[in-house]
Amino acid sequence: MKILVVGGGGREHAIIRKLKQSPQCGEIWCAPGNGGIACDAKCKNIKATDLDGMVAFAKEEGFDYAVVAQDDPLALGMVDRLAEIGIPSFGPNAAAARIEASKVFSKDLMKKYHIPTADYAVFNDPAKAMQYIEQRGKYPVVVKADGLALGKGVLICQTEQEAREGLKEIMLDKKFGASGNQVVVEEFLTGPEVSVLSFADGKTVKPMVSSMDHKRALDGDQGLNTGGMGTVAPNPYYTPEMAERCMKEIFLPTMQAMQAEGCPFKGCLYFGLMLTPDGPKVIEYNCRFGDPETQVVLPLLESDLLQVMQATTNGTLDKTEVKFSAGAAACVILASGGYPVAYEKGKPIEGLTDGQLPGCKDVTVYHSGTAQADQGLVTAGGRVLGVTATADTLPEALKKAYAATEQIHFEGMHKRTDIGARALNALK
Ligand code: AMP
Ligand code: GLY
Repeated sequence: MKILVVGGGGREHAIIRKLKQSPQCGEIWCAPGNGGIACDAKCKNIKATDLDGMVAFAKEEGFDYAVVAQDDPLALGMVDRLAEIGIPSFGPNAAAARIEASKVFSKDLMKKYHIPTADYAVFNDPAKAMQYIEQRGKYPVVVKADGLALGKGVLICQTEQEAREGLKEIMLDKKFGASGNQVVVEEFLTGPEVSVLSFADGKTVKPMVSSMDHKRALDGDQGLNTGGMGTVAPNPYYTPEMAERCMKEIFLPTMQAMQAEGCPFKGCLYFGLMLTPDGPKVIEYNCRFGDPETQVVLPLLESDLLQVMQATTNGTLDKTEVKFSAGAAACVILASGGYPVAYEKGKPIEGLTDGQLPGCKDVTVYHSGTAQADQGLVTAGGRVLGVTATADTLPEALKKAYAATEQIHFEGMHKRTDIGARALNALK
């Protein structure tokens, strides 16, 4: 099969490396891809959000299957457009992608179908939102832009003043554009966070191994929110009992709710959960694989990813095995100095051979923001590389991943040194 993967980060790299293990996988392309992905797939420089360009390219190349991995092309209807030219894809159509693309849609869905989540109210007028927050008088309070905002549209406001400033940024200054036309004001929840990615075919849902993200830029969960500085899988807080409860209270009801609303979900449905004292609650849904969750989840997948993906497209997931190894995985992100705010690009990356560390056993380097330049591989984004190791246990996986990061250098390189520390504590 000739396959197209739409996107160009570490997640797409992890998907491509797993797809290549399938006996059915033939030529594989990535658009736009990046410098490191180019070692594993042919890359074509088309922006993931350029639907017309992507569809024309897909038609020209005659792909048998496409994997749309990134949220914005999904929300814009890339899967619908590819279907129009007869190319089946992995991922939800635009109607189902609303589960991530509109927080108002997802919150109203959860309320209507009694899926546990934080209490909330929706506003399209900042003054009314502020009045509600003042009357409520409970801090922290969470303010979320309705639409996509590169993971930066969620503000945890500690004071009335912070809430006022946050509302101004989102709704008046339009920091995230039209994504801020509406906001969700939400109750602040506490408890360990768990990411559960799942395969879904519209009716059946099969969860993958659980994982834990580390969203803040600095050790000890300090600093700004990022796209994710590292992950571990499985997540020790997510016990088999909790998994059973989430299936019954959250995963199946969500699938049924989407069906009932006329937009059955196919693809990867990501459940961002918080295990609160009152039980598991949904913090957010994503309509795609998480990044960098994918970099620890897919290396543990033993089943044929291409077969499973096709089963989600064809509606045959109930007959398809989704099996994970009993081991553990850890991913440490190497970021550009200054990320997630301002950072320089174009720094030469030392230590890699064809984008990998061939000397490090059970280690894979997933490329997020790299480019090929005259002098070789250089940095080209905030998150640059994800160094993943697998092992029988989490402590071993973390040790191997951190040892491997020592082999890699670029100017200004930043990593957290405590990825997995909380998970290790939970295991004690
Ligand atoms: P999101 O972009 O929706 O994943 O939100 C980013 C982060 O904000 C989440 O991973 C949580 O840590 C935090 N967060 C979001 N909503 C809430 C909430 N209602 N209560 C507490 N923390 C939250
Ligand atoms: N790592 C969080 C996300 O992919 O949304």
